[in-house]
Amino acid sequence: MQDTTERIALLTEEGLRAISSAKTESDLLDAKGRYFGKKGAISEFLKGVASLAVEERKRVGASANEARANLEAAFARKLEEIREGERKAREGLERIDVTLPGRAPPLGHRHPVSRTMAEIIAIFQRLGFSIHGGPEIEKDYYNFEALNIPKDHPARDMQDTFYIDWPGGDLVLRTHTSPIQIRAMEAMRPPLRVIAPGAVYRCDSDVTHSPMFHQVEGFAVDRSITMGDLKGLLNEFCGMMFGEGKPLRFRPSFFPFTEPSAEVDIRCVICDGSGCRVCQDSGWLEILGCGMIDPAVYGFVGYDPEEFTGFAFGMGVERIAMLRHGISDIRLFFENDPRFLSQF
Ligand code: DAH
Repeated sequence: MQDTTERIALLTEEGLRAISSAKTESDLLDAKGRYFGKKGAISEFLKGVASLAVEERKRVGASANEARANLEAAFARKLEEIREGERKAREGLERIDVTLPGRAPPLGHRHPVSRTMAEIIAIFQRLGFSIHGGPEIEKDYYNFEALNIPKDHPARDMQDTFYIDWPGGDLVLRTHTSPIQIRAMEAMRPPLRVIAPGAVYRCDSDVTHSPMFHQVEGFAVDRSITMGDLKGLLNEFCGMMFGEGKPLRFRPSFFPFTEPSAEVDIRCVICDGSGCRVCQDSGWLEILGCGMIDPAVYGFVGYDPEEFTGFAFGMGVERIAMLRHGISDIRLFFENDPRFLSQF
């Protein structure tokens, strides 16, 4: 009997030593396994005392339980000590230096197309124009019909225009912002000075064409507006947009909704007129279409062409942004690569 309790005391002592010399959690678990775990030395020892008398078994069992409780307690204290030590070591490594400068999150900015659009709008607002909008999904009537674009006009071709399959009638993704001319004239009476910015869509894609792009339309209707007013306005606009003193050139052209019509070129922003690849050696860059509103258009909106005259113009926003920043591929605007966008 004496042997039995001594044996337990001995195992307890060994176990406590193993616990106290443990350096890591795994040393500690190892000690537990060896001495007081389910298959540890104490449990194994107890198996061997099954043959003792009942009274004896009780006493041995009680002393074994006490031994295990002591070992468990020592185990728990040591575990806490080891973890605390590790925590301290980590804190030493991870100390925060509050005097270091902060890391600022990267700040975005407006897209170059939005910025160019906003600049164009701001210039015309300063010149007394107000903004009018219209839907991007547009009726054939506004996009073509009322702009005097005949049924067989090539712009109406399936190859150029996105038609919308819709049982209710002829709908297209607007191919230009000109339909807003009709909508604004239907909604208001002259005098009118309006700009109409927005996205437009065409079945077209290469380095200078994107299936979605932006235009700004402008028009004015009043009594006795002349082409001189149009030229003066566009001169003013181009001076503000591209720099004072840049010569403009009006080239006769054709649009179904203006008569006469013109295309406007500015002196090449790259070579200043001496000829380069961008202007194809012409010294000029086309930036917009314009003209005097065709009297036929007034017929669609109930204006009297004997009483009112007006001008209209339309420009591509991406094209203007490309010219100003020397960008050669329109698709760069829509890939949204921050390495490209962050330059503007
Ligand atoms: N709508 C034309 C286009 O998309 C551009 C244009 C030309 C607009 C002449 C006008 C204009 O208002 O008078 O190509």
